[in-house]
Amino acid sequence: MPAPLLARAKINYALHVTGRRADGYHLLQSLVAFAEFGDVLSAEPTAGADHALTLKGPFAGALAADTAGDNKTGDNLVLRALDALARAFGTALPPLALTLDKRLPVASGIGGGSADAAAALRLGFAAMAGREPGEDEMARLAEIAGTLGADVPMCLASTPALVSGTGTEVASLPRFPGHAILLANPGLPVATPEVFARLERRDNPPLSPLADSDLATFDALVGWLEGTRNDLETPALRLAPPIAEVLAALRVAPGARLARMSGSGATCFALFAGIEEAEREARRLTDRHPGWWIQAAPVAAVA
Ligand code: C5P
Repeated sequence: MPAPLLARAKINYALHVTGRRADGYHLLQSLVAFAEFGDVLSAEPTAGADHALTLKGPFAGALAADTAGDNKTGDNLVLRALDALARAFGTALPPLALTLDKRLPVASGIGGGSADAAAALRLGFAAMAGREPGEDEMARLAEIAGTLGADVPMCLASTPALVSGTGTEVASLPRFPGHAILLANPGLPVATPEVFARLERRDNPPLSPLADSDLATFDALVGWLEGTRNDLETPALRLAPPIAEVLAALRVAPGARLARMSGSGATCFALFAGIEEAEREARRLTDRHPGWWIQAAPVAAVA
C-alpha cells in the first residue's frame, strides 16, 4: 500500500480577480504556496466491495456537517476523485479503506477539500500502478483534477506556483525562498460562491510581472507581494466581519512581514522569516484568542 500523504494547506499569497467567464466562473491570477502542514490521507486494502472513507481528527465533525462552502462535497470529494481516476485510466482500482485525518478547518480558504482530492488522486494512482506517475500521467491527473474543482490541479504538486484561468492553469515556480507561515481562522466557515458574488469589481488590475530576482530571497518576495492584493478580502470582510480582527492581530505580530487573507477566507496568514518567530506568535495568539484555530508551519524552499 502507498504511504500516507500530506494534503498540504494551500495559501493564496496574492489573488487578483481579473474577469468573469460566461459560465459565471471568475478569471484570476494567484501566487500560491503550500504549508508543511495539512490533512493526512492514508489507505489500507479492504475485503469490502467498495472504497470506504473514515474521518478522524479535529475537523472530522465539521466536515461531516459542512454545507457552507467549497468543501460541501467534503468527504465524498475523495471518493469522487478515486472514481474519476479509475474511469479516466480504464483500470480497476482495488477497493481501499481510506482514513482522512482532517486537521485543516473546512470551508476556510486554504484548500482543504481540494488538497484532499489531489491527495486521493496521487494515492489512488500509486495503489493502481504501484509507482509514482510519470510526466504524461501527471498531466492526465491534472486534467482529472480540473473536473473535481478549480483548486485541485494546483494541489497535485503542492509546490509554489503562479495560477491563472479559473485557477486550473498552473505554472510551477522554478525557485522559492523558504520561510514560515502563521495561519489563523476565527472559526467561521465561509461559502466561496457568496464571496465571489459580493465582488464590486471583476476587472481588477493583473499581477505585476514576477521576475526571477523577486524569488531570490524572502525579502524580495515580500517586496513583490506588497504590490499585490487579495481581491476577495473586501467582499469576505463584508460577509464575515470577524475576519478584520484576525487580520489586525496578525498585522501587529512582531516579526510578521505581510498579513493577508487566503482564498475566499476566513483563514488569514502572516509570513515570517523563520519558524521560531512564527511559533512564538502562534503561542501568543492562542493565549489571547482561544476560540481561533491557529497553526504555524514552515514553507519549503524550492532551489
Ligand atoms: O471549483 P470549486 O468547486 O472549488 O469552486 C467553488 C465555487 O467558487 C464555484 O462554484 C464558483 O461559484 C466559485 N469560483 C469562481 N471562480 C473561480 C473559482 C471558483 O467563481 N475561478
